[in-house]
Amino acid sequence: GAASKGEYRHFMQKEIFEQPAVIAAALEGRLGERSVPAECFGPDAEALFARVEQLHIVACGTSYHAGLVARYWLERYAGIPVQVEVASEYRYRTVVVPDNTLFVTLSQSGETADTLAALRFAREQGYLGSLAICNVPGSSLVRESDLTLMTQAGPEIGVASTKAFTTQLTALMLLTLAMGRVKGLAAETQAEVVAGLRGLPRLVSRVLELDDAIEALSTAFAEKQHALFLGRGAHFPIALEGALKLKEISYIHAEAYPAGELKHGPLALVDSEMPVISVAPNDELLDKLKSNLQEVKARGGELFVFADEGVGLAEEEGVRVLRLPHVHDALAPILYTVPLQLLSYHVAVLKGTDVDQPRNLAKSVTVE
Ligand code: AGP
Repeated sequence: GAASKGEYRHFMQKEIFEQPAVIAAALEGRLGERSVPAECFGPDAEALFARVEQLHIVACGTSYHAGLVARYWLERYAGIPVQVEVASEYRYRTVVVPDNTLFVTLSQSGETADTLAALRFAREQGYLGSLAICNVPGSSLVRESDLTLMTQAGPEIGVASTKAFTTQLTALMLLTLAMGRVKGLAAETQAEVVAGLRGLPRLVSRVLELDDAIEALSTAFAEKQHALFLGRGAHFPIALEGALKLKEISYIHAEAYPAGELKHGPLALVDSEMPVISVAPNDELLDKLKSNLQEVKARGGELFVFADEGVGLAEEEGVRVLRLPHVHDALAPILYTVPLQLLSYHVAVLKGTDVDQPRNLAKSVTVE
């Protein structure tokens, strides 16, 4: 049943391996032949989306990271300006709400106190309406929002969020394509990404086959005190999420930076005791990322790169490269999340921490 670990050692591990199935569930019945109809967000969504000129996305923790990815997607593919903010900040400041702004919350539980309070505050601010992307049907967030899209991940027991995140991203790509359709995204691009989404569960399964190789890498982290995660573009939030996973369950201090910020400070931290993890899908930022990696290497930093199989990055002294199957640019952040989940999982197992129930943390933060 949903509350049993079955063949797995931990719920987190089980939930990581469920991702091909739950991503398929998140897509079920929502893809058109070559586009995403707005109706999957409810009967009134099409008319509402046509009026939307801005989005404000509010969430906490891992759900906030999903929102940061969505900003890259929505601005690129739908041409809609997006702001993303953590709920605990948003709810206590003066917010300027331009006309025709849609308020969007993201939450696994739908019961996170700050996110719920942010929604209640937003309802008084003159938004066009509210949309909740959530995993728990009937939760407070779902009941109090105008539009909802369920992420269909099934119960998530591990405190460290995994499948809830990748299904949120899947749902956010559906939102991007549905908005893009209304806002004039090229039909060819819509069709390409829809085809990519159909193939995504299979690609995630292929990444899960890297489990043994990632377990082997994890030994390099067990004795380390710190780690640095780098990514560019929509992979910067994936680096943030990788760092959060490592902190939560292995208690290793981890930070994430956009790779281009290295020279502006964090490079001073890099030495042989600071492993650097980077995600390098084959996109237009790859060359820039490669030169950032050189900077790390030159300072004796140990590098771990998750890269597209087509990327010309060689393994050498101090540089470990793990190859991921090629994926459409738009969907790479979803795929590149998975090896970072596996890495933190294996590091935590090696360190002997309580993977599913890390110290000091609760699954849903229902009090402020
Ligand atoms: C993620 O691994 C966390 N444990 C935490 O950051 C979580 O994502 C956050 O508390 C938000 O929860 P929600 O999605 O249920 O609102």
